[in-house]
Amino acid sequence: HHSIMDLFSQIENPEREEILVLRKELKQANYQYYVLNTPIMSDYDFDQKLRRLQDLEALYPDMFDASSPTQVVGSDLVKAKNEWRDAKGKGFEQVEHKYPMLSLSNTYSQEEVKDWMHKLPEGVEIVCELKFDGLSISLWYENGILTKALTRGDGVKGDNVIKNILTIPSIPKTITKQTFTELRGEILLTWAAFERLNKERAEQEEPLFANPRNAASGTLKLQDSQEVARRRLDCYLYYILGEDLPAQTHYERLQIAKQWGVPISDAVKVCHTLEEVMEYITYWDIERKNLPVATDGIVLKVNDLSVQEELGYTAKSPRWAIAYKFPAEKQLTRLNTITYQVGRTGVVTPVANLEPVQLSGTKVQRATLHNED
Ligand code: IVH
Repeated sequence: HHSIMDLFSQIENPEREEILVLRKELKQANYQYYVLNTPIMSDYDFDQKLRRLQDLEALYPDMFDASSPTQVVGSDLVKAKNEWRDAKGKGFEQVEHKYPMLSLSNTYSQEEVKDWMHKLPEGVEIVCELKFDGLSISLWYENGILTKALTRGDGVKGDNVIKNILTIPSIPKTITKQTFTELRGEILLTWAAFERLNKERAEQEEPLFANPRNAASGTLKLQDSQEVARRRLDCYLYYILGEDLPAQTHYERLQIAKQWGVPISDAVKVCHTLEEVMEYITYWDIERKNLPVATDGIVLKVNDLSVQEELGYTAKSPRWAIAYKFPAEKQLTRLNTITYQVGRTGVVTPVANLEPVQLSGTKVQRATLHNED
């Protein structure tokens, strides 16, 4: 029996309220990030809020919700339902993934990387990779031919963007292996291609992309494949699925895929100890600034595929992998002036004009201030 006071205390519990507020806020942030390509908060803020939500949900298990941002990946689907052709017959076909497309659990703390490694069976090898900051793609090879390219979508089904993927020269259109193969990786734009694109957009007085990831994501969902080709997307692949796969380790599979002509990063390394992993992190935290593409962290994966299988998955991510994210770069500069930008719909946005400063491999001189406050 619950007294009326119990009910009141449930309704007025500020932590219960916070769960609802955070879910709403994070859902909106996901939509802005994955569908509109205009993020409203930094990855760091998002991850902190997600963690807070996870902690609160653990305290109030009766508030479990399978659609909470802690349980599902942010969706990039252009249309919510599979009514994918608009009035002009345009859109992307939604296709169900053969294997769900998950996310990775994140940390910004080397201490947590250590804890994760300590929980693994003793002596397991760890494959260290760069975490490329683009958008994930799933490439289907049927009878050796690239037939479909699906975005992550909602993790269960994705948008088939094959016509745009076919414009990317670094992606092989055929592989020698004939049985079904799925390659997963990251679609991205180099810093150079991103800057060239933004320069053109500035000249055309079109809104600028905030970073190469948003630019790549906006580009991959264009209906005009000729425009996509012009923007020169690029790709790195880092995961192989399918039938009759060779080898018993992740690393060996990547090397075999490399022989098929698949673009695999040269930065992939097998590590045996925590010290080696930390060295890798320290090395790439500096060296990544010289790379032609944006990276936002390091991904650690258990090398042995049978150990991967034992560890399994949570609702959202594999237990056999973890992402260590680099802290966002900060720079101090001078605010010179504030100007006002009038959008197509008449919305006025204040813009900060800054003394140009180098930040994360690009020159920053303008920043949207979002609103008057
Ligand atoms: S593995 C089942 N490896 O990061 C695990 N992901 O935050 C599959 N990403 O959705 C992912 N670089 O889009 C993996 N070397 C890498 C990656 C990588 C970037 C992206 C990927 C993933 C996201 C998770």
